This record gives sequence, C-alpha cells and structure tokens, in this order.
Amino acid sequence: MEFNTLLFSVENGIATITINRPDKMNALNKDVITDLSNAFDEVYNNAAIKSVILTGAGQKAFVAGADITEFIELDATDGANLARIGQENVFNKIENCPKPVVAAVNGFALGGGCELAMSCHFRLASENAKFGQPEVNLGLIPGYGGTQRLTQLVGKGKAMELCMTAHMADANEALAIGLVNHVTTLESLLERTINILNVINTKSPMALGKVIACVNKAGTTEGYETEITQFGECFGTSDMKEGVGAFLEKRKPVFA
Ligand code: COA
Repeated sequence: MEFNTLLFSVENGIATITINRPDKMNALNKDVITDLSNAFDEVYNNAAIKSVILTGAGQKAFVAGADITEFIELDATDGANLARIGQENVFNKIENCPKPVVAAVNGFALGGGCELAMSCHFRLASENAKFGQPEVNLGLIPGYGGTQRLTQLVGKGKAMELCMTAHMADANEALAIGLVNHVTTLESLLERTINILNVINTKSPMALGKVIACVNKAGTTEGYETEITQFGECFGTSDMKEGVGAFLEKRKPVFA
C-alpha cells in the first residue's frame, strides 16, 4: 500500500507502519490521521497480516504530538470534531484491532504521540524515548484518549501528575510506571519487537483476537461476562481443535 505520510510494508506476517514526517517530528496532521485510518483498514482486511509494528521515521521522534500548526484557527466545535474523528478513526481502531499492534517508540512520544503509543496493545521503547502529555503548556488537554488510557496504564495519581506537570518521562521512568514493557537500544528496537511478534504470530489468531477484546474490557462492568462469552466461543473452533489436538498428540500446533 502507498501512503503520503506513512511507510507500509509487510514481511513474514508483520506489517510495519512508519509515520514518515521526520522533519516535523512525525507530528499527526490531518493527512497522517487519514492515512493511519486507511492503513488500519488494510490491517483488519488483509489476511496476510498477522500483527503490526507502529513506529516513527528517523532517530528523534516516534510522534511529537498532534500538528500544532493546525490548531490556531479551530473553535470549540472544530476541536471536539478533531478529537472525535481521531479517536473513532484511528485510536479506537488500533485499540480494538483484532490483530496484535505493538508500538516501537523510537524517540519523542508526546501528546498525541504518547496517546498513539498507548492505543497500541503494548509498547517497547528505545533508550532515547521520552513520553509526556504536554498539552497544558498549550492551554489544552489530551484529546486522543490520553486522560483515559494513561490512567488505565499507570494509575490515577501518576496520570494526574504527568498531565498536570507536562513532565517528559524518559524510557526507564516509563518502564518503571508500566507505560512500556521493555527498553532497548535504538539500534535493536525493531529487531526486539519483531522477535516478540514472531512468538505471538505462532499462536492462535482467533485466541489472540479474543485476548485483545477481553483485556480491553478490563475494569468495565462487562469484563468478566465478556471473558465468559469469548472463552465459550473458542470451543468448537478449528483453532481450538488444532491447539488441543496438537497437545494431545504431543506435537506443535499449526494455526491457519
Ligand atoms: N506540531 C507541529 N510541528 C512540530 C511538532 C508538533 N507537535 N513538534 C515538532 N514540530 C516541528 C517543529 O516546529 C520544527 O519545525 P521547523 O523545523 O519547521 O521549525 C520541527 O518539528 C523540529 O522540531 P524542533 O522543535 O526544532 O526540535 P527539537 O529537537 O528542538 O525539540 C520537541 C523537539 C519534540 C521537544 C519539540 O519539537 C516540541 O516540544 N514539540 C511539541 C511537543 C508538543 O507540545 N506536543 C503536544 C501537541 S498537542
């Protein structure tokens, strides 16, 4: 697939989506939001794609936020629309993607960039990565789900502090508060992410989709009920027959 603002490649079932405006710190303008929406439609629909890496071009930024140059003319309605379109077409689409999506955070992940990383199912960071929600510096607040997902990931107190102070957390601080799962060198970031996805890609795609659906409901009133339903739906599927059958036959399962 060809995009103006993204690089998109697929290798061994892993789609790598690279936000490609390195001279603007990969800031999320309208075109990037549209391209990301279309790229994730392709992820949903292309059976050759088993999982996704989301990263940024260059060695400085994952994404340094929404494109601030698009803000000055907006009124309250425009602002709400910007947040709604982004959340519905991109951030929620990534979070609810039935295939694993991992952020490889290769530098600044600020504002919408931190929110984009948080919409992925989990995150790896390079040592130079910096995370923050600096919107209060601009007389703004996070609008792409940051107040919600940051609270879910790091807890209310840390989320409040990060959103109030605009503090940029380095990779090890992000690791300590659970914002990222692993810290690597910049050079080994993609390789480490691919290694994790190569493991995940041997598992049942059906079950992976159900893990994502259930974990996304954690903390809501529907969480346990969703798990019961999704667990039940596994039974009788070809993946369940292959997985359980392979165990009983003492061989490795091969999922479609
Ligand atoms: N929106 C639009 N442009 C952005 C941007 C953003 N969020 N973040 C960076 N850029 C642009 C800069 O304006 C600059 O463009 P120019 O070369 O045309 O002047 C270019 O990217 C390089 O950024 P620069 O600030 O020169 O790099 P730096 O290394 O000195 O600083 C940052 C890097 C990320 C600390 C700094 O760019 C920054 O604070 N960006 C804004 C972060 C932010 O508030 N994000 C939340 C938005 S809601």
